[in-house]
Amino acid sequence: MSADIIDGKEIAGEMRQKIKDRVMNLKKKNIVPGLSVILVGDDPASQVYVRNKEKACKDLGIKSKTFRLPRETSQAEVINLIKDLNKDPEIHGILVQLPLPDHVDPDVVIEAIDPSKDVDGLHPVNMGRLIRGQQCLMPCTPHGCIIMIKRTGIDIKGKKAVVVGRSNIVGKPVSIMLLQENATVTVCHSKTVDLEKETREADILVVAVGKPKFIKGDMIKPGAVVIDVGINRLDNGKLAGDVDFESASKVAGWITPVPGGVGPMTITMLMHNTVEAAERLC
Ligand code: GUN
Repeated sequence: MSADIIDGKEIAGEMRQKIKDRVMNLKKKNIVPGLSVILVGDDPASQVYVRNKEKACKDLGIKSKTFRLPRETSQAEVINLIKDLNKDPEIHGILVQLPLPDHVDPDVVIEAIDPSKDVDGLHPVNMGRLIRGQQCLMPCTPHGCIIMIKRTGIDIKGKKAVVVGRSNIVGKPVSIMLLQENATVTVCHSKTVDLEKETREADILVVAVGKPKFIKGDMIKPGAVVIDVGINRLDNGKLAGDVDFESASKVAGWITPVPGGVGPMTITMLMHNTVEAAERLC
């Protein structure tokens, strides 16, 4: 058996067209959606992500304003910048690129963002609303995962979903979203006693652990939907997901590739959230 590929690039492309239309409609009302990205330090991966965000904004007609701050910038300076952006009527979305340098506490910084501009969906208010099933700005990568699962045509309701990884950015929110879709959800992590037993029972498997090729084909239920959130740089310079694509694609029913899977969806969901935040002003 050979899995169908869930093509993130294609799905993201279709979504971007719809986002473009929404941006045009806002412009008719004299609103240009604006996104501010704050990057502290010179982490190479973060620099690439931020450039990609700027490019996506440009393509869709969203105004982007990036603040590239030196590594030594103090936490207070970052927070003061956020306070200014919270008040700026031309900015509808604020994103602080993670990871931050050690002397800056990401929890304190994220809490400084006005929840209505928190396009990353990481502020406790948005996270709290997500858990309660209320309307909120949803974290981008998990939201992208749910859209990709739905695109397979399977009904999530009643399925056994297993999430490997419990980060605040992916594992926790995606498990809540799957629960919201009426899946029966298990969250696995580094202390899980028998990981393979859990993953082999999954109709839907979402993997976000940051370890290249961690999930092998023999850990997957035949026919399962496999969503690979990992983007790992190998010693040979190539990218690999958290799932061993070669063995997994022989067992799974559907699988996301790396690159070209979850990655393009994440930025698209950020654009979606920025437009949504701007539309709420109408
Ligand atoms: N760094 C890696 N992923 C993310 C994300 O989803 N949001 C932010 N702000 N930084 C990240």
